[in-house]
Amino acid sequence: MNETITILAIESSCDDTSASVLQNNRVLSNLIATQDVHKKFGGVVPELASRAHQAHIWPVVSEALKQAQITLPQIDAVAFTQGPGLLGSLLVGASFAKGLAWSLNKPLLAVNHMQAHILAHFIENKQNHYPEFPFLCLTVSGGHTQLVLVHAPHHFELIGQTIDDAIGEAFDKTAKLLGLPYPGGPLIDKYAQAGNPNAFQWPTPNVGEFDFSFSGVKTSVLYFLQKQIKTNPKFIEENLNDICASVQHHLVNLVIDKLQFAEKKYKTHNLAIAGGVSANSQIRKALNQLAEKMNTKIYIPPFEYCTDNAAMIGIAGYLLYKNKQFSSLSAKPTARLQLS
Ligand code: KG4
Ligand code: ZN
Repeated sequence: MNETITILAIESSCDDTSASVLQNNRVLSNLIATQDVHKKFGGVVPELASRAHQAHIWPVVSEALKQAQITLPQIDAVAFTQGPGLLGSLLVGASFAKGLAWSLNKPLLAVNHMQAHILAHFIENKQNHYPEFPFLCLTVSGGHTQLVLVHAPHHFELIGQTIDDAIGEAFDKTAKLLGLPYPGGPLIDKYAQAGNPNAFQWPTPNVGEFDFSFSGVKTSVLYFLQKQIKTNPKFIEENLNDICASVQHHLVNLVIDKLQFAEKKYKTHNLAIAGGVSANSQIRKALNQLAEKMNTKIYIPPFEYCTDNAAMIGIAGYLLYKNKQFSSLSAKPTARLQLS
């Protein structure tokens, strides 16, 4: 297919309202309205997220079209996030996308958010560096932690996942215990730069071969801090950098070790990371070191396509379009949509 396909994509699975316009695999615009309303609650409040999506969706879509210099009649298809995510949030994006597709008489593309995080690697880049199939992808976000063997653009094999919290949650909950605002992951990354990664030790969970568990780490940080604060009320303040560095070091090691085990078994020679936590500087460094050690190629998405964004929904939609996998207007947003 050599024709140019213009796709308008909408992402509304959690607390970011995002719209993007793509022509084939090239991003023309990618707008994100972050919802500050959740900050004072220390986490996302689902009902407030739905209301904010409702208020933001049209301004964000119209600005994405404007920046792309595309008018509504030029759009060939509308892509939206079907799940997983917060149901109320998904409903806003899905309803908007359906109404638009119907009124323009254009096809609708229902996209799986977790697949989209992985497929973000296929957005056009200057280096022309795209994963070769099959590749192993470690998807690390605020809601999920998955190890996926990607056989083809539409063929995903889930080989491991978290049995409790996601790694992003472990970052955010640790940050909350340290008194940092939500989402605390990027702040832990920042303070960790000046800290000692070996200052404190944290437990390693005993889980299945390629599975993950993070709730034990979070609990041990809680108990450790409670104990230290009893003898020194200023413990957090005086040790913030070291706590951040050691927790980050441990969380990153837990996931990178699993990626290494998986590569030993599957021998893909192609390793990727995806999802919001792949913005973390330590995970990027650790993946580089692993690649050197195992002599593999690595794929790390640009920062703007790591955390939730509509461009990744657009590229996933484009790949569905090429495969003629269109969706019906009765496609149901699904909070717990599986990877495949
Ligand atoms: O993929 P994402 O934007 O949303 C979900 O689908 O969950 O991921 C958001 C998560 C949050 O937990 C946030 O704290 C984390 O990604 N995150 C980071 C960093 N940047 C974002 N965690 C650690 N270090 C970072 N630099
Ligand atoms: Zn996400």
